[in-house]
This record gives sequence, C-alpha cells and structure tokens, in this order.
Amino acid sequence: MSLPLTPERLPWPFASLYEKATRLVIESYYSGLAREVAGFLEKGRILDLGTGPGYLPVQIAKRAPAITVVGIDLSRSLIKMARRNAASAGFAKRLHFEVGNAGRLRFPAESFDMVLSTGMLHMLRDPVAVLRESHRVLRCGREAWFLDPARVSSQIDKEKWKASFSLFERFMYIALFIHVRLDPPKTVTKSDALQMIRSTPFKDFRITERTGEIRVRLRKDPEP
Ligand SMILES: C[S@@+](CC[C@H](N)C(=O)[O-])C[C@H]1O[C@@H](n2cnc3c(N)ncnc32)[C@H](O)[C@@H]1O
Repeated sequence: MSLPLTPERLPWPFASLYEKATRLVIESYYSGLAREVAGFLEKGRILDLGTGPGYLPVQIAKRAPAITVVGIDLSRSLIKMARRNAASAGFAKRLHFEVGNAGRLRFPAESFDMVLSTGMLHMLRDPVAVLRESHRVLRCGREAWFLDPARVSSQIDKEKWKASFSLFERFMYIALFIHVRLDPPKTVTKSDALQMIRSTPFKDFRITERTGEIRVRLRKDPEP
C-alpha cells in the first residue's frame, strides 16, 4: 500500500535521525563520491541540490581547494546542520548553505560549473522543473549529476545508528518505521529518468544503474 503521506522536504522531526545516518556513511559513500567529483572538476563553483546535512560538500572541499559549493535544501533544520558541519570542518568560507527550492532557483543563468544531487530525485514533486533549472544555471559544456537514492540506508551500521539515538529520536524512529511501511520510498528507474530528461533541453546524457543506485549524468551543450 502506498499513501501520499511523504512531504517533499525532509520533515524536521526526522532531520537529526537522517543526519546521524549520513554521518555513518561519510567514509563509505560521500568520501568516494567527492573524490570522483574532485577528479572531474578541478576548480569552479558547484551547486548541490537537496544538500541535506552537507556532508558531500564538506568532503569535496577537503579534496578540492579551488572549488566552492552552494548547497540548498527545502529543510531549514538540515541547512542549519549543514552550516554547522561546514564550520566545524573549517570550510565555512568555501561552502555556503541556504534554504531553497531546486525547482525554482534564485541563481542567474550559467552561474555554476557543476550541479550535483544525491538522494533527492525520488522525493521530487516536479523533477522536470528541477532538471530544467539545473540546465539553466549550468555553464555551457558543464555537467549535472543526479544520484538516487544516496545508498545511505543500505550502508549504515543500523546497530551503531540506533545506539546513538536520544529518547526523542527513538520515538521518531518508530514513527519513521511506520511511515515507511505505509508509504515506501519511491524508486526512480532508468525509464523514469529517460522520460524526465526528454522534457528538458539536455541532449547529451548517460544513465547507469549500479547496486541499487541510479546515476544520471547530463551535459549542457557547449556554446554553438
Ligand atoms: C534523502 S535527502 C538527501 C540529502 C543529501 N543530498 C544526502 O545525500 O545526504 C533528500 C533531500 O532533498 C531535499 N529536497 C526535497 N525536495 C527538494 C526541493 N524541491 N528543493 C530542495 N531540496 C529538496 C529534502 O529536504 C532532503 O533533505
């Protein structure tokens, strides 16, 4: 049974649970992805859509001193956490986080060298608007990478995660468990992604699937 219970943004009572889960996969997930990003883009400005607690931007900043990242998210609580995480890692100057909707970006056209997003695609009400906005803000010849889901849940050490819960988080975990049973997270398939992309100006793209994760790489056409 699936009910339309899930809001697009991560609701605040679940934010700290999510942050604790992602913290456990920094080394096994975000660090490897950040290495790939730093190998692909040496310098410039990246936009991370649905940035959550900001662990991917922090890992990128560690590996690429000439990169700055702007992270946006609909969740105010997660943006606060992302700012805290950037500051405690010493990257407050190169990482900027703000509340914002990926489907209605405030940034001018062609203002980013790369767009990234992990684990957001399946949550979107209007994924086509997000892909179109990504195309608009990308500089010509540059890429957007959408990875979904962020393979967080399959990688976390559940016992370690649960052991870190406060009393409030224990209640929230039970609520989350019931919620997921009633309204399981959606998955974006290759053909879903293809259908989305067809309604955008992206012509050059590659979709791959690996161990439960879909990776959509989209390249904006170089200037004519
Ligand atoms: C599963 S979390 C992934 C967070 C982070 N990228 C990570 O890998 O840990 C998805 C995030 O996307 C955010 N989100 C969903 N729809 C959004 C939208 N339209 N604009 C901005 N953020 C959005 C949610 O609030 C949530 O924090």
